[in-house]
Amino acid sequence: MTDAPARGRAGGKVILLGEHVVVYGRPAVASGLPIGLEAEVVRGAGPALASDVAADARGIDLVAAAARLVGLEPADWVVRIRSEIPPGQGLGSSAALCVAVLRALASAAGRVLGTPEEIAHGRTLEGIFHGTPSGIDPAAATMASAFRFVRGEPPAIEAVVLGAPVPLVIGLGATARSTGAAVGGLRERWQADPARHEVLFDAVAVVVDEGVQALRRGDLVALGRAFDRNQTLLAELGVSSPDVERRVASARLAGALGAKLTGGGAGGAVIALVDASCRAAVVRALAGSGSRPLELVLRERP
Ligand code: MEV
Repeated sequence: MTDAPARGRAGGKVILLGEHVVVYGRPAVASGLPIGLEAEVVRGAGPALASDVAADARGIDLVAAAARLVGLEPADWVVRIRSEIPPGQGLGSSAALCVAVLRALASAAGRVLGTPEEIAHGRTLEGIFHGTPSGIDPAAATMASAFRFVRGEPPAIEAVVLGAPVPLVIGLGATARSTGAAVGGLRERWQADPARHEVLFDAVAVVVDEGVQALRRGDLVALGRAFDRNQTLLAELGVSSPDVERRVASARLAGALGAKLTGGGAGGAVIALVDASCRAAVVRALAGSGSRPLELVLRERP
């Protein structure tokens, strides 16, 4: 490489249905987001990472591991990050960080990684941030559109062609939370009572596949019902929180077709499915219940 910086970009994500159960081999459906994160790599005293997404030793571990994966000497590289993804909200900032750093270091090494390699390496790197990732977040960081995902080596990833645009209001939480802690807490509860949890995981799997069919048909009413049923099951799994429940209830009262947490839960962002008749009221309700609202429409690219 010359002394010019090498760059890599990756997107955030929104999990529409199936977070957490996807760690246990059940399906989930997610979409990449148009907001993303850019990594810039220069030669210097490394491994080092300047970022508010991982401003601790994990950032250093990430740069070192990603450099090794693309055949570079970790001590030679410093990475700087510019992110549009709010951290700690369940919108995929850690996975986007992993994939963007990987892409930037691959570019510094003069390599272009294929998508399956990026997804596999992205999942390995995401393990630095939480112990047992399913791989759905790094997959979304590499994809712009909606997809159904089942973990595996390699994962089963199936595009979901949207039958109609999907208008969402994302309500950001007031404080960042940890996906690792939410995933670890559920693992402990599952280990203590696997039978109860496996039944709940199977119930979510049914809801996910009903939601996938609704997305394909463009049936927003059925998709909203799937959001609400998934949220009830997420609460039974213990990954919701009083604050999430309050914000979800306020979105529903304002007319949302359905509302739920997204990503790791235990706080963080909620997503509300809206139509033209309730969109403005849901935005106001989420703002009034302590969320910063972001409006977003998922649609097929022409
Ligand atoms: C986090 O965005 C999604 C989880 O299902 C964890 C994972 O799949 O790795 C909670």
